[in-house]
Amino acid sequence: MKNNVKYASLLLIMIVLISTLTACGKNNGGTLTFGTNAEFPPFEFETDNGLIDQYDGIDIAIAKMIAEESDMTTAIVNMDFESLLDALQNDQVDAVIAGMTVSDQRLEQADFSIPYYTATQVMIVKEDSDVFRASDMKDKKICVIEGYTGESCVIGMGYPYESYESGTDAVMELINGNCDVVVIDSATAKKYVHDNAGLKIVEDSEAFESEEYAIAVKKGNTELLDKINTIIEARIEDGTIADFGIKYTNAGE
Ligand code: ARG
Repeated sequence: MKNNVKYASLLLIMIVLISTLTACGKNNGGTLTFGTNAEFPPFEFETDNGLIDQYDGIDIAIAKMIAEESDMTTAIVNMDFESLLDALQNDQVDAVIAGMTVSDQRLEQADFSIPYYTATQVMIVKEDSDVFRASDMKDKKICVIEGYTGESCVIGMGYPYESYESGTDAVMELINGNCDVVVIDSATAKKYVHDNAGLKIVEDSEAFESEEYAIAVKKGNTELLDKINTIIEARIEDGTIADFGIKYTNAGE
């Protein structure tokens, strides 16, 4: 009997030890699942050796930071950009981090954290283009990405356009001469121009307003939203989020 008690307590200690080790002290609180659309460098992209599975980028680093500081494991679910807010609604994901600009329309579908990044739409054109401001697009072939705020901007300007599934697709059309200008977010545009010869960025701060990226949660999930806001606030203040920006913006340069 005495021996049995000893054995049982030894077993218990071992179980506790093993579970602590496998948890690495990280996932005691379960898994925090983030939805994203990993076709938006430098915020999220796929790579051989990603930070979380095959996913990497500024948003992935932020997602991992939030989960770790909440004592949770990070999971990333990659999907169409336009499915992200539905996935929140269906409880497929806990949060959405996707370089997503806060807009009135999106605020009807989800709650958003405090912003962590400020961006603006820009125009990517060929180096010899005669597009110098947004109004020069009026008789050009314009490419946008389906469901992105760049599309809403061009709709607002009243110009015809074609929409593509990803920034890479749209930039390919530009390179191949099937379109004259791609309207897309600034940091992503810089990445494409850096990676492809013969392209340049044209800015027009009067035509394109600044946009703020934030993390979305299901409407009413104040517990998670408060947690995210506390972490984002502290990590903006101590420069961690700015450092992620520098790291992924300069990568490969
Ligand atoms: N900021 C733009 C928007 O909210 C584009 C975001 C695209 N993000 C992505 N992960 N594909 O519409």
